[in-house]
Amino acid sequence: MTTATRPMPTMDEITALAKRRGFIFQSSEIYGGVNGAWDYGPVGVELKRNVREAWWRDVVTQRDDVVGVDTAIVMHPDVWKASGHVANFYDQMVDCKTCKKRWRADHLTSDRCPACGNKTLTEPRAFNMMFKTYIGAMEDASSEAFLRPETAQGIFVDFKLVYQTARKKPPFGIAQIGKAFRNEITPGNFTFRSREFEQMELEFFVPAKPVGEDLRWYHYWVNERYQWFLRLGMQAAHLHKREYSGNELAHYSKATTDLEYDFPFGRSELEGIAHRGTFDLTQHVETSGKDLAFFDEETKEKFLPTVIEPSLGVDRALLAFLIDAYEKEADRTVLHLHPRLSPYKVAVFPLVRNKPDIVELASRIETTLRPSLRTTFDDSGNVGKRYYRQDEIGTPYCITVDYQSLDNQDVTVRDRDTKEQVRVSIDKLAEHLREKLGPM
Ligand code: GAP
Repeated sequence: MTTATRPMPTMDEITALAKRRGFIFQSSEIYGGVNGAWDYGPVGVELKRNVREAWWRDVVTQRDDVVGVDTAIVMHPDVWKASGHVANFYDQMVDCKTCKKRWRADHLTSDRCPACGNKTLTEPRAFNMMFKTYIGAMEDASSEAFLRPETAQGIFVDFKLVYQTARKKPPFGIAQIGKAFRNEITPGNFTFRSREFEQMELEFFVPAKPVGEDLRWYHYWVNERYQWFLRLGMQAAHLHKREYSGNELAHYSKATTDLEYDFPFGRSELEGIAHRGTFDLTQHVETSGKDLAFFDEETKEKFLPTVIEPSLGVDRALLAFLIDAYEKEADRTVLHLHPRLSPYKVAVFPLVRNKPDIVELASRIETTLRPSLRTTFDDSGNVGKRYYRQDEIGTPYCITVDYQSLDNQDVTVRDRDTKEQVRVSIDKLAEHLREKLGPM
């Protein structure tokens, strides 16, 4: 792999690769597509699972102070009153009376329509971004419900049930990965802003005392989340921390930092790490009338913990990893994905498909590796073309079984990044790959 920062691809290069290789397709494409909804193909679904798995492992299972939940998408409608989403989850929009285009008011830089240039913009009007639905057979106000616009609220409303059943005491966190829905007025930039997407959220509950614990954990999570991207191979030159200034902060928040990525369309939010104070739990206590305070058996003190919330979109993280891994070289396009993220870790090729001994040995090798490594088998076209295909989907190692393999019981292992090829004996192959790939 080149050590210098790789040049940024264009979004056209990324969307073309995503479609060509089966990462991401437009949803319902044969019907003309749905704006803001995306399907993940055979390779994309593996990459997406690996992004989730890397987050879950590093944020939940490898720690003793975080537990997970999986809460419902449709929650009691009062949840969204308490959280402020019914009253405040709006985008201010203006319409152009001439060309009929609609714009987000905060994206406009003058009183002229950016498309037609006319000064015929309406006053801003508010659009709530929550998807509405109905529970049960009646479609009236009493059965109105919403698809969750974030996964976080499921964690807050279950806070007491979780700390009691998991026997956890602040500082500890509750994590969740799941779908979220926002009727974004201006979805776009491929999957960056979608209407249906997935979030990975951690609500980390911090005790009221000693003073300063909240900010200590806030800084800890900003750094931890930043390092997570670097550990997964993201190039540091493309990743930035941006701390909010005082007037950008919500009234209950002491601090917020966005991790921003240099997307081809400009530097934009990848993940947010917010100090949410006791806002959400206080709101749910007031709206539900239930006591959600934590009672410390040792000190006999009762308190509402402060919350530090790292919140990341799965789709947005995947898009950033895809862009960051992309490199166009003179003779190939290659995705330098971290092996933990690569859809396939190893591809196995028989040099030719018309030699039963070679095909049989290659298929035996793949079957042996399959239980412990995500593998793929390819016997179509010449080996050069097969390397090209695997490079484009980021497979770190390709194994070729050839005539020599039959005599010597060894194979060629080719490295995606350096293109170097070495001969490895078949009985040492699993160990060799484990060592090269590193911990999964
Ligand atoms: N609970 C806090 C929360 O939801 P947010 O900044 O609205 O905060 C958190 O969203 C993250 O979710 C964002 O940083 C982004 O990665 C992802 N996200 C938000 N809206 C999205 C959308 N429309 N499409 C894709 N990802 C989105």
